[in-house]
Amino acid sequence: MCGIVGYVGKKEVVPILIDGLRRLEYRGYDSAGIALLDKGNLTVAKSKGKVELLDNSVNRSHYSGTVGIGHTRWATHGEPSVTNAHPHTDCSKSIAIVHNGIIENYLELKEKLIKEGHKFRSKTDSEVIAHLIEKYYKGNLEKAVLSSIKKLKGSYAIAVITKDEPHKVVAVKCGSPLIVGIGKEENFVASDVPAILTHTRKVIYLHDYDVVVLNEKKVQIKNIKGKNVNRRVEKITWDINAAEKGGYSHFMLKEIEEQPDVILNIIKRRIDDKRRIFFDELKLNKNDFKSIKKITIIACGTAWHAGLIGKYLIEKHARIPVEVDLSSEYRYRKPPSIKNELVIAVSQSGETADTLAALRLARHNKLKVITVCNVIGSSMVRESDSVIYTHAGPEIGVASTKAYTAQISIFYLLAVHLAFLRGVIGRNTEHKLVKEFEELPKLITRILNNKKDIESCAEKYKQASSFLYLGRNINYPTALEGALKLKEISYIHAEGCSAGEMKHGPIALVDEKLPTVCIAPKSVTYEKMLSNIQELKARCGIVVSVATERDNIIKKHSDYVIHIPKVNEDLSCILATIPLQLLAYYMAVAKGRDVDRPRNLAKSVTVE
Ligand code: M6R
Repeated sequence: MCGIVGYVGKKEVVPILIDGLRRLEYRGYDSAGIALLDKGNLTVAKSKGKVELLDNSVNRSHYSGTVGIGHTRWATHGEPSVTNAHPHTDCSKSIAIVHNGIIENYLELKEKLIKEGHKFRSKTDSEVIAHLIEKYYKGNLEKAVLSSIKKLKGSYAIAVITKDEPHKVVAVKCGSPLIVGIGKEENFVASDVPAILTHTRKVIYLHDYDVVVLNEKKVQIKNIKGKNVNRRVEKITWDINAAEKGGYSHFMLKEIEEQPDVILNIIKRRIDDKRRIFFDELKLNKNDFKSIKKITIIACGTAWHAGLIGKYLIEKHARIPVEVDLSSEYRYRKPPSIKNELVIAVSQSGETADTLAALRLARHNKLKVITVCNVIGSSMVRESDSVIYTHAGPEIGVASTKAYTAQISIFYLLAVHLAFLRGVIGRNTEHKLVKEFEELPKLITRILNNKKDIESCAEKYKQASSFLYLGRNINYPTALEGALKLKEISYIHAEGCSAGEMKHGPIALVDEKLPTVCIAPKSVTYEKMLSNIQELKARCGIVVSVATERDNIIKKHSDYVIHIPKVNEDLSCILATIPLQLLAYYMAVAKGRDVDRPRNLAKSVTVE
């Protein structure tokens, strides 16, 4: 939930840290801070709010140093304030630490440290780390870090510096992401790749309990026993431009517009020239797929909506029963497992705490787990039996957009692939379904070309204080996703419902002030949606329909119609999502919200 960065080299460290923090801001933006080693002194600068405020408050000419650490915070313990901002220091202000995660036993540790004479300044759980390291420090920082982490319970990625060893950064990871960047006469640690990508493409994804010692010449990784370990150096192939706004006013808009390319990329990677689907990286063979008796999908938030769509697709095409669970529920409800059950974890980040815990539980119960993920080398990827990458490129906007349509695309192709492997369909049907999928980039572009129309719709209804979203069948999850997008970035209350459930309660909300977004493309449930729309109009409700082009009937009963091109019903959930993303985006912009960094949220929820 927080972002950390560390540097050791020959360059001025402040601009490197500030730039790194800006690129990690999607992880939290309640406060920001840096600590650097400056001519034998440890200097700390912090500010409440976004990194920009820290940058404005730091007079760069006053600082000079080539070793430092930085932090951008998503508050868990203690309100957003300068005192609670990281870096935190020990009593003598010789050691500074930054931390991402939660120290679950911090109260107990804090009490003990206070009894031993340590003076605490903040309300955070993280400050105990600085005092523990102080307690164990006997002239060797990595040894003190090793002793300290043995006392910690919870999740953490930590970077530490001390003025007594001014040429090194020590960092450690357990449960929260941390990478090492290897440069020429300079080395880095960071929570995520964009923070260091302008400096190096050579990256190591650390494992839990790896303790890394960086100086400008060397990167040394030890395990919890203090023994050296080797980790593979990976080369990042994507460009930093992919993680920059590139002229767009917001990452979210850029990421919405990238969706045709994301799907083209999926086509390139997953479909051969005979229109056959392949998932080469899956370590399961044909017989493994044939013997699957049940699939359980686990995910949170938007990824859970993609999972719900996955259920429709897999059950329809491959005829395998699918259960979809919120990871936070799955992990506590003691789910019974059956022989030949497969678990699919879905996550953009691969770091979401609940999904990671649910995945671990599934593996503990001896189930095979495939993770559908966007972030290469993330924790879930490392802990799964197999991975299917969505390859959507870095998603920075807190509201998930392109990762979602990429996840649905993967489910569509996987469902068709499973159907073929299990003999439910032949090559001809596979060919036909793939051909329809290949049309998507063109069709999405058509919707994007019409975004002025969606902007006008947002303008018209931006004063509404609440919205209802209705859909049926495969577009029921689309309604849930549309409502989630609207509430998270515009702060307008929104509720997504299955249209069939409307009469069982939500209809009581309908009046002349409530807009209902009805997702009603041509489909087997089209007539039913039309009835729902008429029922809404009979109660003076405002109806905004998402309908198939040239649908003249729906026009007569709606206050506003957003058109999407004609497409097979399975894929309508991808096309219908695009206008809903844009509607939420324009609504948030019209209300002056911070679209990419909505209040109280963080991109990656690495705490429970
Ligand atoms: O990284 P993940 O896909 O595991 O994240 C899951 C949710 O936290 C995420 O989808 C969240 O709901 C987004 N903010 C939605 O836009």
